[in-house]
Amino acid sequence: MADARRRITLRPSGLEFTASPTQDLLSAAAESGIAVPSACRNGVCELCEARLIAGQARNTRNQQIIIPATPLMLCRAQAEGPLELEIEAVMAAGQNSPQKMQAKVVDVRLIGHDVYRVELKLPRRRELTFHAGQYLSVLLPDSEPSYFSIASRPSAQHIELHVQAAPEWASAQRIIDTLKTADSVAVELPHGKACLAAAPEKPLLLVAAGTGFAQMKSIVDYLRETRFDQSVSLYWGVRRQDDMYLGDLAQQWQDDWAPFNFVPVVGDSADNDWSGHHDQLVRAVLASGSDWRNVEVHASGSPAMVYTLLDALVAEGLPPSAFFSDVLEYAPR
Ligand code: FES
Repeated sequence: MADARRRITLRPSGLEFTASPTQDLLSAAAESGIAVPSACRNGVCELCEARLIAGQARNTRNQQIIIPATPLMLCRAQAEGPLELEIEAVMAAGQNSPQKMQAKVVDVRLIGHDVYRVELKLPRRRELTFHAGQYLSVLLPDSEPSYFSIASRPSAQHIELHVQAAPEWASAQRIIDTLKTADSVAVELPHGKACLAAAPEKPLLLVAAGTGFAQMKSIVDYLRETRFDQSVSLYWGVRRQDDMYLGDLAQQWQDDWAPFNFVPVVGDSADNDWSGHHDQLVRAVLASGSDWRNVEVHASGSPAMVYTLLDALVAEGLPPSAFFSDVLEYAPR
C-alpha cells in the first residue's frame, strides 16, 4: 500500500518532515522533533504562521483549500499532498545556537517558601525556539551568568523559570531583587543538550531533585502537548515536604493524564543531609521495577545525585546512552 504520509519541506531551513492527511502540520512537525513557536493551537495567536510556497493544504476550521502564496497556521492546516512552506523560526532536533536578547519581566512571585516563579516575555518570539528540557542564562551586569532550566514548554508564549532564593544565597537573592524591580533582563538561550528534541519511542523516567523539577515540567508539558502515549514516571526528591513547591501540579498531571505516574520522595528525618536524601531518591527509582533496557532516563539535580543515579541504573542494565542530564556536560567526571 502506498505511504499516505505527505512530505513537508520548510524554507529557508530545508528541514523536512512527514504528516498524515488527517494530522495538523504543527503536531506532525513536533513529532519529528522540529520545534515551531506556537501557543493557542487554535489558529488565533498566529505564532505558527507560515506561507505556502507549493502544494495544496486544507484549513481545518472551514475546510477551504489553501493555495500557494497564501499564509496558513500550521496548527490549523492539513496537507493535501507534498508541501513547501516558508517559515523562519524553526529548530531541528539537536540544533542549539544560543542568542542573547533582552527579555521583558512579566511576573515574579513566590510559589514555595523559597522558590520564585519568574515569567519572561522574549522579543521576536516567532524567531526563537528551544527544545523541552533546555536552559537559559540570566546575564546581570558585573556578575557571572546564572543558569536556570526553562520550565515552560517550547510552544508557550512566555518563558517560565523556577528560582530558588533562600535568604542565605546572596547571588540568587540578587537576581530575584533585580527581577522584581527591572522591566527587562538580558538572557541567552537556548542552552543544553540533555533535552527532548522529539518525543522518544520508549517509556520515560524523569528524576528531579529540588528545582530540577523545572526541567521536568517543560518535558511533561511538551509530551502532553504531543499526546505522548508511552508511560512517563516522575520521581521528585526534596528534603522537606514544603520544598515540593508544585506538588499539586504534578499530582494533577497524574490525575488527568493516563500515561503519567508521580512519585514524590520526601526526606524522612529532620537533619536529613543531601547525600542521604539522594540515596533515598535513587532507592525509590530502583524500586520502580522498570525494564532498564527499554527506558530513557532524564535526571536533573546536583552532580552527586545525578552520578549516584547513573551508576546505580547502569549497574541494573540501563545503557549509558539512554541516560540524559546537563550534569554530564557541565560537570564531567
Ligand atoms: S495560531 Fe496559535 S499555535 Fe497556531
